[in-house]
Amino acid sequence: MNKENIKDLDYFIDLQPKKEDFHGAVLEGLSLPQKTMSPKFFYDERGSKIFDKICDTPEYYVTRTEIALLNDIKKEIYSLVEPGSTVVEYGCGSSVKIKALLSALPGPSHYMAIDISKTHLIATAKEIASNYANISVGAICADFMEPIDWPEKAYAASLKRLAFFPGSTIGNQTPSEAAQFLTNVRHLVGDEGSFLVGVDLKKDFEIFNQAYNDLEGHTADFNLNLLHRMKNELDADIKISDFSHKAFYNEELGRVEMHLVSDTKQAIKIDSLDFSFEKGESIHTECSYKYSKKEFSELAEKSGFSLLKDWSDQKDFFGIYLMRAI
Ligand code: AVI
Repeated sequence: MNKENIKDLDYFIDLQPKKEDFHGAVLEGLSLPQKTMSPKFFYDERGSKIFDKICDTPEYYVTRTEIALLNDIKKEIYSLVEPGSTVVEYGCGSSVKIKALLSALPGPSHYMAIDISKTHLIATAKEIASNYANISVGAICADFMEPIDWPEKAYAASLKRLAFFPGSTIGNQTPSEAAQFLTNVRHLVGDEGSFLVGVDLKKDFEIFNQAYNDLEGHTADFNLNLLHRMKNELDADIKISDFSHKAFYNEELGRVEMHLVSDTKQAIKIDSLDFSFEKGESIHTECSYKYSKKEFSELAEKSGFSLLKDWSDQKDFFGIYLMRAI
């Protein structure tokens, strides 16, 4: 474990998560019978900027619905969370959400940020440190899909630990990965801990089809960015214009799927390898699982949490769940 002190932060702990191997993942993913890439590769600098644009489209209700809901339920959260809690944020996404939460809680004492990207992590942790003078701040650089032990450096922090995972990012994990992730969260927050998580709800498939096929084409750009990454970073020989974005709700599996579909019979060449595509064949690039309240609380219960309270917006598009360790 590598501990460093970074000015303004109580501690910075680098658990040295494995560097992502885009090259290896592409060679492996394009060799599968159903060609597949992990959605984690969307988020290079360009992809992250495109994702921000998706969040501003009229069709992608997820981000704005969750932020509005968080603001609506502030008073209830205040009354349900122990004063002086330690807040642990998994993945430092938009600071708008963590700020809404920290401002809603009764005198939180400590904020611990966890992210795989060191730059992103330190920027968020420092921003919180400079905005909340009464909250001590620590940062852990780690892959949160792996179990993390409570760091010695944070022993002084309150045992009332509240983990926070907004954005329905849990939906980008398979249900078995999500169960493992919830078990890891339960381990980190301990017996007195709780978990506040934002999850997209099941609903009419047309809403999903629109949200993942916005008219301005940002979701298509986001998906096609994977091919740009292959071209730029791996010197792949690809005709990007011969691929199309496809997103649809798979009712049977309860998930939105995104694919990059080849419009012709062709090959992507990387190194000296040819990955051939039939016309209509796709690379499966993302699953975004949707859960009913019952499904999600059952999943969390199997991982050592019980549902204390849940909220959804007026249209029942998005759910926020407060879980207690059992
Ligand atoms: C980050 N994640 C929750 C988004 C989702 O809705 O699954 C990623 C995304 N993919 C296409 N649009 C947004």
